[in-house]
Amino acid sequence: MSKHAEIRDLPRRVGAVVTLSGWVVKNRPSGKLVFFEFRDGTGVCQCVVERTEKTESFFDTAKHLSQEAAVVVTGTARPEDRAAGGFEMHVTDLAVVGASTDYPITPKPHGIDFLFKRRHLWFRSQRQWIILRIRATIIDQIRRFFNDNGFVLIDTPIFAPAAGEGSQTLFKVDYFGEPVYLAQTGQLYLEAACMAHRKVYCFGPTFRAEKSKTRRHLTEFWMVEPEIAYASLSDVIDVAEDFVCSLVDRVLRDHQRDLIELGRDVSQLERIRKPFYRIRYDDAADLLRGPRPKELLERDLAAKTARLAELDQRVAELEDRQKQGGVKQWEKDKAAAEVIDLREERGELAEQIANIPHHLKLATEFTWGGDLGGSDETIISRLHDRPVFVTHYPKHVKAFYMREARDNAKVVENFDLLAPEGFGEVIGGSAREEDYDRLLHRIHEEGLPQEDYEWYLDLRRYGSVPHGGFGLGVERTVAWICNLKHIREAIPYPRMMGRFYP
Ligand code: 4AD
Ligand code: MG
Repeated sequence: MSKHAEIRDLPRRVGAVVTLSGWVVKNRPSGKLVFFEFRDGTGVCQCVVERTEKTESFFDTAKHLSQEAAVVVTGTARPEDRAAGGFEMHVTDLAVVGASTDYPITPKPHGIDFLFKRRHLWFRSQRQWIILRIRATIIDQIRRFFNDNGFVLIDTPIFAPAAGEGSQTLFKVDYFGEPVYLAQTGQLYLEAACMAHRKVYCFGPTFRAEKSKTRRHLTEFWMVEPEIAYASLSDVIDVAEDFVCSLVDRVLRDHQRDLIELGRDVSQLERIRKPFYRIRYDDAADLLRGPRPKELLERDLAAKTARLAELDQRVAELEDRQKQGGVKQWEKDKAAAEVIDLREERGELAEQIANIPHHLKLATEFTWGGDLGGSDETIISRLHDRPVFVTHYPKHVKAFYMREARDNAKVVENFDLLAPEGFGEVIGGSAREEDYDRLLHRIHEEGLPQEDYEWYLDLRRYGSVPHGGFGLGVERTVAWICNLKHIREAIPYPRMMGRFYP
């Protein structure tokens, strides 16, 4: 590793001669001065090269530095509010380490498909860089929270012989001629481990063959799952509440500037305080069927229709400009690029508008017994200003392992945590059925092969106790905290239906 200084340390190195190594973000030569924005992986700063006798030997090189050229620069840095990153470096020496010609991702708009095909380069961009740093902080805080609170890390297998959640979303793998599945959850294995260690957690990639291309679904995502012996549903919910608060607090503490740069309304995150709302599925159903979803969606429709008209007008203007005579080629290119982005936004908006009547129908005609759909979750979460725990879902829409409520056999002791601002489910959890007969009955009811679950039934044969836990999806949490429209930007290399390159 180089002994070079890092941009993040510049506040402590003001006035000293330092050497930085990194890449050129953009270059603006102007006469006797060259200004280039520079990043080194720890931050960004502005570099200035002034044409003097001392800089003569590399001034021309500096002038022609292209985007993403790798360079080492020496000079002195001082605070400069107007510069990116808040620092400006006066360069006294410069050397190119690796050239970069025609870097494909320029500051102009590109369209999302273009960018995802170049994900390996795209995450050098400032916005993507920030998101992945926040993701790393969230993951660090996940581990800290559980390690600091007496949970033992148990790594659960990725090759699983049987379904842990629903059988529809299993990825089958040929395991020396026998079928096994990629893990959908580590939970069943954790239940075993919590009888040994009391409080445990697993954290790793999980796989779901989700055929839906929604903004909330990946086929490979990261999930952390705690599991606690001798715990009731409300004990588990209390842990989830503290846990989510700790994640938000940590990001607020370490990433204020980053959040602002992402355009995140930080005050919305500052509201994330205990207690969260706790409502039952029945209350959620009443809310959906009441007058408020209609008001909300009608307001949406008006706002989105207005925005659509705005977009259409702008696209028409830009298209006109491209056809006009006497317009420079670069201006035409710029207009064409902007049209790509606007068209993309338009496409999404038109789809959202088309879906509003459908979502409204789903909400107002919501019948007891169904699962909450994505749009229902969005509505419920938007009608609350803090996260909402929805508990006691109908038994038959939930997984076989959930504990039947002893006062009402139609519902289970489960919960989903819905993040605010329309983000929807970030956690799913429950108390587990600890009673052997009831569990066996559910296994049969779901048509699951009993022999695959014999080991799991053993946990109910030998010292079974009330226990429970939950799973938090990392990408949905990152998307919520960073306010991303789509979960795909929340993971370095997203895997979705139809997307697995690079
Ligand atoms: O609600 P889920 O399916 O719950 C479980 O897997 C339980 N075994 C967890 C437990 O109790 N130990 O998934 C938990 C969370 C969801 O709330 C969501 O955040 C995330 O995992 N998740 C997904 N994230 C991205 N793409 C998908 N396809 C996801 N499916 C679930
Ligand atoms: Mg769920």
